[in-house]
Amino acid sequence: MPDTYSVMDMGFHEPGIAAAAGAHGSGHPLPGSDAAPVSVKDLTERATGPADVSVRLVAAAGRVTIGTGITVPGITLNGSSPGPVIRATQDDVVEVTLVNESVPGGTTLHWHGLDVPNAEDGVAGVTQDAVHAGESHTYRFVARQAGTYWYHSHQVSHEQVRKGLLGAIVVAPKAAPAAASATVAGAATSDVLALSHTYSGRRTINGRVGEQHVDARPGDRVRVRVVNTDAGVAPVWVSGTAYVLAAVDGTDVNAPTPVSGRAVVVPAGGRADLVVEVPASGGARVQMSGVSMVLGPPGSTAPAASRPKKDVDLLTYGSPAALSFDPGKPDRTFAYSIGRKPGFVKGRPGVHWSINGKLWPNIPMFTVAEGDVVRMEILNRSNETHPMHLHGHHVLVLSRDGKAATGSPWWTDSLEVPVGARFEVAFVADNPGIWMDHCHNLPHAREGLVAHLAYEGLTTPYRVGGTTPNEPE
Ligand code: C2O
Ligand code: CU
Repeated sequence: MPDTYSVMDMGFHEPGIAAAAGAHGSGHPLPGSDAAPVSVKDLTERATGPADVSVRLVAAAGRVTIGTGITVPGITLNGSSPGPVIRATQDDVVEVTLVNESVPGGTTLHWHGLDVPNAEDGVAGVTQDAVHAGESHTYRFVARQAGTYWYHSHQVSHEQVRKGLLGAIVVAPKAAPAAASATVAGAATSDVLALSHTYSGRRTINGRVGEQHVDARPGDRVRVRVVNTDAGVAPVWVSGTAYVLAAVDGTDVNAPTPVSGRAVVVPAGGRADLVVEVPASGGARVQMSGVSMVLGPPGSTAPAASRPKKDVDLLTYGSPAALSFDPGKPDRTFAYSIGRKPGFVKGRPGVHWSINGKLWPNIPMFTVAEGDVVRMEILNRSNETHPMHLHGHHVLVLSRDGKAATGSPWWTDSLEVPVGARFEVAFVADNPGIWMDHCHNLPHAREGLVAHLAYEGLTTPYRVGGTTPNEPE
């Protein structure tokens, strides 16, 4: 590998299988434009005027307090980890200034699950340079999607995220439509965040170990916004009452039904909004492995229960609804097949992650045209599970292991792909840019489980590698 390099020069362009010209969309071969390429730097929001939400986040290396008298080494934002919750209303202009006070090697912020313009995506070496100690960088985007999201560093992310350079961003729907109060999500009377992170081997919710209490009255419906910021799955379940899974990865589930005796398995990077009705008898306990949150009147408690044997299956949960596009008529079809293969990665011999039979840095650049309906088959032929995350887009799950989805439209940005599994997903290429498409078990990304989705006619002026020193993974 050269000392520094552009991701545009990595691996190979993968144009996928294009539909015949005239069938539906572009249908033309890729890449193939004579026009000068557009820089991702110019893919900004173009939203001028004052911001509706303006936040300054100061990143510093230091110690994180995760309980009374318990501190661990980590990275804080404005003195704590998780950083402050950023709250916005749909269509707000959000402006965040990241100040790097003392994070060695530089840092960035990526808006996980928010389909922001590419220039704001926060990937060091692809959409910006890492922000070094003493420097700052301002992000600006319109929060178009309501729901639960999070932000985290995308510079040496396998290390900086683990150390706590992260926080939640919650976007409230613009106006409660008249019909909303009739929906489960609309009927929630209060709202609480439950961001889970493991610091130095200790699991926390909202940065605190053990059990915590959230005041609520019997009959209250509390929307619990679970965010999994760890590298592995985070099962969550409720004891003391039934619950409803109201949203997945920020998108409301259509016609969710009450759940009891089942856990929701939140993939690495994923979110699940649970609406929990506080029982007349006292409290309800929202549980994750080793931590819990009791919702109820002051002093109330609820029995703990072990993890239910069954999980909610998103392939069948909720009811179908009309889609905004036709996944049955793709313009382009890709395969993203994960395996293991012997070879050298970053100078190290070993048995490494492969994508479509090739090893990093010979990774595919899935190339699309704006407006394409894209289908992708994701296969896991390796011996470990992979939570796959595509930046800048949400994908619709069509099938798993050949079994078609029959529940609510399942829109996701963080999809758990177990060993041996085969998913078919589809999305609309409606957000031009160069986007990472990687495993969110971030050490796996570091080991080479990374590809990119690029729109034709784009390029990046940024470089990854040695002296820059941009290292997104
Ligand atoms: Cu949550 Cu590429 O990241
Ligand atoms: Cu992985």
